[in-house]
Amino acid sequence: MLKPKLGTCYYPEHWSRDIWKSDVIRMVELGLSWVRIGEFSWSKIEPKEGELDWEWLDCIVELLRSHKLDIIMGTPTATPPKWVLDKYPDMLAIDELGNVRGFGSRRHYCFSHLGYRKEAERITREMVSRYGLKVQAWQVDNEYGCHDTTLSYSQAALEGFRDWLSQKYQSPSALNKAWGNIFWSMEINEFSDIELPNLTVTEPNPAHVMDFRRYTSDQVVKFNNSQVTALRKFSEAPLIHNYMGRITAFDHYEVGDDLDIASWDSYPLGFLEMVSDADEKFKAKYAHQGDPDFQSFHHDLYRTVGSGRWWVMEQQPGPVNWAAYNPAPLAGMVRLWSWEAIAHGAEVVCYFRWRQAPFAQEQMHAGLLRVDNMPAPAWNEISKLNSEINSLGIIEQKDAHIALIFDYQSQWAWEIQPQAADFDYFREVFDTYSCLKKLGVDVDVCSSNDPNLNKYKIIFAPSLFSTNEILENCSGHLVLGPRFNSKTTEFKIPNPLPPNVMGLDVIVERVETLRPNMSRPLKGAGSVIRWIEGISHNATVLDETKDGAPIILQQNNKTYLAACLDLTAKNKLFKKLLKDQGINYVEMPEGVRQRSTKNHKFIWNYSNKEQNIDGITLAPAEVKIISI
Ligand code: GAL
Repeated sequence: MLKPKLGTCYYPEHWSRDIWKSDVIRMVELGLSWVRIGEFSWSKIEPKEGELDWEWLDCIVELLRSHKLDIIMGTPTATPPKWVLDKYPDMLAIDELGNVRGFGSRRHYCFSHLGYRKEAERITREMVSRYGLKVQAWQVDNEYGCHDTTLSYSQAALEGFRDWLSQKYQSPSALNKAWGNIFWSMEINEFSDIELPNLTVTEPNPAHVMDFRRYTSDQVVKFNNSQVTALRKFSEAPLIHNYMGRITAFDHYEVGDDLDIASWDSYPLGFLEMVSDADEKFKAKYAHQGDPDFQSFHHDLYRTVGSGRWWVMEQQPGPVNWAAYNPAPLAGMVRLWSWEAIAHGAEVVCYFRWRQAPFAQEQMHAGLLRVDNMPAPAWNEISKLNSEINSLGIIEQKDAHIALIFDYQSQWAWEIQPQAADFDYFREVFDTYSCLKKLGVDVDVCSSNDPNLNKYKIIFAPSLFSTNEILENCSGHLVLGPRFNSKTTEFKIPNPLPPNVMGLDVIVERVETLRPNMSRPLKGAGSVIRWIEGISHNATVLDETKDGAPIILQQNNKTYLAACLDLTAKNKLFKKLLKDQGINYVEMPEGVRQRSTKNHKFIWNYSNKEQNIDGITLAPAEVKIISI
């Protein structure tokens, strides 16, 4: 790997030309190497259909290149101008309640709309035929799924879905059988009888919704792919998309297969406020730092989405504008988040944004520069980081021993059929991850059919809804359940009953879900929460509830969990599993996390107190890098 680089997101179209040059000089002075431009500028490039104005973009491209800055050019398709909408009035997405998601912000398009897909491909082709040899990377669109824009119940989606189903099932009777449409007389005679699974009287058939979720995800893949094809014709520069935190409505692994680099937009404080499951006490404690595991979970995920190369495309530099509350980062956190990303293998960390905008939706969002052009607090942290990177040498990743499966279809399945108000797949996976990180071990977050799964000593697959051969044939120790393989891909209860895994003599005979105050203590440590399975088995019981229900079972190279476990129970079990596999672990002090690369060990402190580990003292937000 090359030395990590820093960059920023720049919007020259927001500023008068007199300051472009000094901006670019200051970027170089700060030590930045990459600048992302263009991704929301369609109305400036093409104010009216066919009237293309490249002069301003030529000029900034030339200026950046003459200062040896590398450019990531964003295709502007997340913000189609008004005239595009006038041309395709039915291109807007429709929400589940039938409301139109209108013009006046961004991401106002439906992925199924073929007219818009062509229009997006056209502007991409125009851009790449002009800049294909001049820029060093491309960002395709911007944040698929942001603002809940993946699912759409439009006419275009209906037509596309019918077509998708007719290809998948070939005949209406095959579809009826697969979905179980005899139940409640839902049988269809023609594919044109199919409706979208919204606005039904009570819940729609889960098999119908599951196929709609798959169809929807496929449209994101296709939309992305149509731009990828256009870009590859005229450019050899790497293609990137900027994914997000806890966005699960499309299969990122499938989008990633078409791209060269995965990137994501990391806003630790906004995420803690808006998408974390943590309680109020935790949120208050970490309000200025973020959840110590949320960022690294996504770093470890996006490293396996696609080719293995990954970046942070947008890094929070100060308070954002979009959360319910928007605190400032604790002094030192911007540097910490950046080092944390680099320790996990980020090739580039770009800060969003260069200068705070005094106008429009994001005027309260910090940048590296204030509106009056003075440096904002992150500036000095980045400057320090830059000199540290320069003196550190090359950072090389090494293989982790632990894989944790994250599967988008399982997320959809358990959203469709949670069976308990608080059952959430992401949360099951994230809690497993967090528990492992508190033991200081390195983890790769992988897809369930990652061809490299066999190299891991332990593979955790919490609540995977449907199994596959790659996973089951791994020689490593598999930690499965609850809900493992508990549906067929058609969304039926399988017979034989789950988990139905070779070498594991366990049968889930019944499931029960528990209210938050109904947790059941285990004999060993901790409790069962939320979900408990009644099983018959012929395996070794590692732990059971105080009233004798077997919960943690082991046989051959498999551990089965017949319940959701709280963190205390997980911690005890995970320590045993790590020890059995000869993986070293250490109980990390509160908020302290670590990662080892080939030549370095990185340790950082998310807590707001001084912490000590192995004789090393870490102030709040401090990062220590030890050569090994
Ligand atoms: C991201 C987005 C950026 C900007 C930023 C603000 O989600 O890609 O365009 O809106 O959030 O935090």
